This record gives sequence, structure tokens and C-alpha cells, in this order.
Amino acid sequence: MIAEKSRLIAPYGGELIDLLVPRKQLVEQTAYARTLPYVQISPRVECDLELLAVGAFSPLTGFMNRSDYQSVLDTMRLADGTLFPMPITLPVDSGSDMTLGADIALRDRKNNILAIMTIEEIYPWDLEETAIKVFGKYDTRHPIIAEMHRWGKVNVAGPLRVLRLPPHLDFAELRRTPAETRAVLAGYGHPNVVAFQTRNPLHRVHEALTKRAAANIDGVLLLHPVVGMTQPGDVDHYTRVRVYKTLIDNYYQEDRSLLSLLPLAMRMAGPREAVWHAIIRRNYGANYLIVGRDHAGPGPDSRGEPFYGPYDAQDMIMQYADELGVKPMPFTEMVYLEDEDRYEENAKLPNGAKVRKISGTQVREDYLGKGVPLPPWFSRPAVAEILAESYPPRHRRGVCLWFTGLSGSGKSTTSEHIVNLLLEKGRNVTVLDGDVVRTHLSRGLGFSKEDRDANIRRIGYVASEIVRHGGMVICAAISPYRATREDVRNLVGAGFFEIHMATPLEYVEARDIKGLYAKARRGEIKDFTGIDDPYEPPLHPDFTLTAENTRAEDNARLVVERLIELGFVRPD
Ligand code: ADX
Ligand code: MG
Repeated sequence: MIAEKSRLIAPYGGELIDLLVPRKQLVEQTAYARTLPYVQISPRVECDLELLAVGAFSPLTGFMNRSDYQSVLDTMRLADGTLFPMPITLPVDSGSDMTLGADIALRDRKNNILAIMTIEEIYPWDLEETAIKVFGKYDTRHPIIAEMHRWGKVNVAGPLRVLRLPPHLDFAELRRTPAETRAVLAGYGHPNVVAFQTRNPLHRVHEALTKRAAANIDGVLLLHPVVGMTQPGDVDHYTRVRVYKTLIDNYYQEDRSLLSLLPLAMRMAGPREAVWHAIIRRNYGANYLIVGRDHAGPGPDSRGEPFYGPYDAQDMIMQYADELGVKPMPFTEMVYLEDEDRYEENAKLPNGAKVRKISGTQVREDYLGKGVPLPPWFSRPAVAEILAESYPPRHRRGVCLWFTGLSGSGKSTTSEHIVNLLLEKGRNVTVLDGDVVRTHLSRGLGFSKEDRDANIRRIGYVASEIVRHGGMVICAAISPYRATREDVRNLVGAGFFEIHMATPLEYVEARDIKGLYAKARRGEIKDFTGIDDPYEPPLHPDFTLTAENTRAEDNARLVVERLIELGFVRPD
């Protein structure tokens, strides 16, 4: 490719929209905003607001009104004809009390006041229509379509004044506005800048691809990873940024590459998203964008088929290249050529070449999950080390075994046997037993619904911290209410197993180990689970066990064997 002087073609890459309130009005406007009714915006809207405010979405000046929204759905253009493929909206609940012509404050989830909006329009939007037009089909397997079900049913639009950008404490030195990024890039003294969009750790194929891209245009590489919102389940951005920093510091040419973080909320919209990415990168000062295989693809749909063809995004962006002022730099899939020890595009392989590759799923399951090191042809050793640290093998990840069941159903006894088996296998474990917890952590709490819930949430909170730090915890409390258990499951996150001790009431009552059932029947204790307080059994427990005619030790073995199968405990 021939070096080409960067031209700033309107409307992109020219003058940037700036919605920030001037410094000298800030105190007064903030005081005014405190008096206003407000909406709390979602993390996604927060990302959009930030990029609107700094001009990353230029020439867009705010959340879309009805005619822009409809026009973007139908034609990928704003009502005035400007190419802009992605709807950017502020959805609110239809019940929100908003008055046309009045100001509202936009606050984040911690109640920080971010902006003031004058409500000019309130209009309904259609989920199915939006899904089909933006994402190609209505399939709730798509993560954003699933999320859209939670969005407010009407959009609000109107002039925006931004008082403060969403606060970020992490990696401040790598966060730059479009204007700042352009200024830094200008200092490199090369007219050509190729941007690389990514939401994943970078492996050696990506290193080869980005270096080749910069060489192709004799220009600068803008490594521009997304740190706002990406596909659920992606590697967290802290880990990824550590990877990017390591690579930039050690393997890229200092005077030809810039790492800068982009707080974008991705939509995983494939082709439309690629065009949007080009507009954004144009505003940050790039005139080329790398578009490889399956750019911004959301993974398989509900039938297991891909949402988009692997090169649909390239085709779409190619059509609009002149208008965008950004040239796509297309790549077919990069792979490793074992015999020649180099990386090459799939489309340019020598005949009979022996090719190696590892997919993202394989990285997670076959390598990190099992503690198998990523091979050096695939990842730089420093990168492999960072990923191995953040994603240790399953036997070093957190696990919560949550017992639920009637008093005397065998929760504590089974737990003791599990503890013993785990210790024998080299995995340490903490037990939060309901009776014991009530002597310290929950001392003073009684057995009303409120107190029982408080007790369970305290146990759940401690369990979640243990799991977060890679520990194993067994919780053994009656935990009779289903909704509270679901709350706790969400609090703990991955590694949560629900074990229902389903020993029948007749059996536990007849056995009455603690003598409590007799007392409850005589009315000497009130609100006793199973007698005069409800027990709501789990609907889809991970294990269902009973103490009736079964030894606790055998139940314990069943659980531990399953944990071994899943890799959470190492076999002998
Ligand atoms: S994306 O959702 O941001 O597109 P990802 O971070 O995986 O996901 O990819 C970033 C860019 O690199 C995309 O343009 C993608 O097509 C490209 N890419 C990723 N892996 C490869 C590969 N092995 N070969 C060629 N291009 C790739
Ligand atoms: Mg007990």
C-alpha cells in the first residue's frame, strides 16, 4: 500500500463535538443539577455519554431523537444523511415522571451527577424491530438483545450539558480523549495511523498482524482496546491491559505505536459495528482500521450458527470507506506456520503448509482451566504468565457448596465428611455452619423472616469473598427461602453449587436429634421451619441428597467425586 497523506474529511475526524460545560460555569451548573429530578443511567449509557461528551461519536451531539433513531435503523444514516450505523439512545422506564421542555439530571449508579438534559422528546422504541435491523435477527442469544429486555421502554432525547465525565480510577495514564490522542499521534510525525480494535488478550498472531498493518502504511499503530463493555465472559479488562502494556513495552517499536484505552460499550453488531468503529477511530486520529475475521462478532446464535459471515464486516466497511475517511485494512485469519516458524494470513498460505492455531475457547478450557501453559509459538511467555495468574486452573478457583434443607436433615454431618475428603485431597475449606454462625457473625438474630434473610445474606457475603479469593467454602444453614438463595447465588457468581438435603420431614422429625421438633410441636418454639414456617425447596439444585437410609460419608463422596470430574478438586 502507498503512504497517503491523512485528510480530515468532514463530518468525521474534523472538528470534535464537545459537550463539556465550561469550567467557569461548572460550580453554578452543578448546584443547579442537584435541585433537578434525575434518572440513574446504566453502565452502558454511562459509556455512551462519555464518548458523546468528548466527541468520539462526532458529529453526533447527543442521544438520538425519534427521527434520527428511525433513520439509523432503516438506512444507517442520521436524518440529515450523515452515515452513523449504531443507535445511541437513553432508554428510561415509561413510568418515569418527565416533562417535555424540563431539565433532568443524569446520575450514575453511585449517584454522581454527570449531566443535565433538556427533555425535547420522549418516544417509544420497538425491541424486535431494533434487533432485526441492527443485529440482523431477533434472537435473544445475542447478548445485547437479551440485555435490551431490561432497558426502559421509551427513549428520551434533547440537548445535553455534561458536568463531569464518568470517573475512572484505573489506568488513568492510558486514557485519552480524541483530542488528546490526536495530539499525541501528531507528535509521532507520520501522517498514516492504523487503529487496532480489540476486546481480547493479544497473542502472537495479533502481534504479527498489527505490526504488518503498520508496516503496510509506513505509519503508526494505535492499539485501541475496548475497556468499557464487551461480550459477557470476556477476559476482564484489568488483565487485558496488563497484557497490552507488557507487549507495548517489550515487543513494539516505541516511536511507531501508541496504546490508548477506549471506554466504549460494544454492541457485538458485526458489520454495522465495524462501520461505527471506523467513525470512532477516525475521530481519534486514525485513517486506517484493521478489520480481520468476524469483527465484533457475538458468537453463535440459539441454533449454534454464527450471526454474521466471517468477512461480512469487511464487505460492509469497504462500501463506505471513502465516505468514512478511514480505509479498512482487511486481513483474513492469521495462523502460525509451524515449519517456517512465522505467522501468515490464511489466504496467503504456501501449498501444503502445516498450520497451527488455538481458539479462544480452547485457551480458556484446554489450557488455562487445566493449568496447561500456553505454548510460546502462541503467546509471549510474559503474556501466558499474566493469563495463567488471572485464570488459574479450576482446582485453584473459588467454590461454594451451599447446603439447604430442614433442621436435622444432615447438612452439618455431610459437610463434615466433605471437609474431611477435601483435606485428604489437599484442598482447604471453610465451613459456615448456620448454628455456629449464629454464635458470632449473626449473634442476636432471631428466626423472623427478616432475621433469617439477614443471616443468610451475611453467610452469602462472607462466602462470596472467600470464593473471590479462590477459596472453598461450605455453607450449611436451613436457608428456607428460594429468593434469598437466588440472591446469594448471584452474589457468589461462578463456582456456586446448591445442595438440597431433601431428607423427608417425617424422617427428621422421628429422628429429632436436637429435640427441636418435639418442642415446636408443643408450641414451645415458634416459626420452626417445616412446622409453622415454610420451607421452599430448590427447583434446580446441583445435588439432591437424603439422609434417609444413606450414610453421610457416601453422600459426601458423591459430591467430591463430581467436583473432581469438573476439575475443582485434583484426583489423587
Ligand atoms: S472484536 O470483537 O473486537 O472484533 P477481537 O478482539 O477478537 O474481537 O478482534 C479484534 C480485531 O482483530 C478484529 O478485527 C478481528 O477480526 C481481528 N482478529 C482477531 N483475531 C484474528 C486472527 N487470528 N486473524 C485475523 N484477524 C484477527
Ligand atoms: Mg446443622
